[in-house]
Amino acid sequence: MFNYAIVIASDTRSSGENKDLCIDTIQKILKEPHYQCVYENILPDDKDRLKEELIHLADQEKVNLVITSGGTGLAPRDVTPDATLEVIHRQVPGISMAMLLASKEKTPMWMLSRAVAGVRNQTLIINLPGSPKAVEECLTAILQALFHGLEIINNIVKQH
Ligand code: MTE
Repeated sequence: MFNYAIVIASDTRSSGENKDLCIDTIQKILKEPHYQCVYENILPDDKDRLKEELIHLADQEKVNLVITSGGTGLAPRDVTPDATLEVIHRQVPGISMAMLLASKEKTPMWMLSRAVAGVRNQTLIINLPGSPKAVEECLTAILQALFHGLEIINNIVKQH
């Protein structure tokens, strides 16, 4: 079983103006026996705070996976992919591509997400867009390979 943290990036949800529905959506998809959510937080769209949180979760908490949601678009305060790129050591473009390919079947707006995925030390960080619908569509698209990816990062996969 791998543990994971959820970080929502949203000015309006962190201020309480809007209610978050994405945490529930993520937890309904990433669940036991394969995944256990150990942490959730809602932050404003602030690059430095997001970077600090991602570094803390990877380096101190050593979670296997961080799922972010929100702030992947083109608005001036959409900075989640930028924060992620500055903290990851290696990008995993296939995860972003898989989400884009699946999203293309769902909405013409698919191309507006800049979501990034990458590895910092032993932690995989994946950005998702900010609506529950997009979260469900994108997470479902990468689910088949996610567990194996985490096994490889943690060097617990059997060699062929
Ligand atoms: N991808 C999927 N699968 N489903 C969606 O509904 N919404 C798009 C896009 N990707 C969407 C999607 C929209 S409308 C935007 S603006 C961008 O993701 C960025 O969303 P974000 O700013 O909430 O991260």
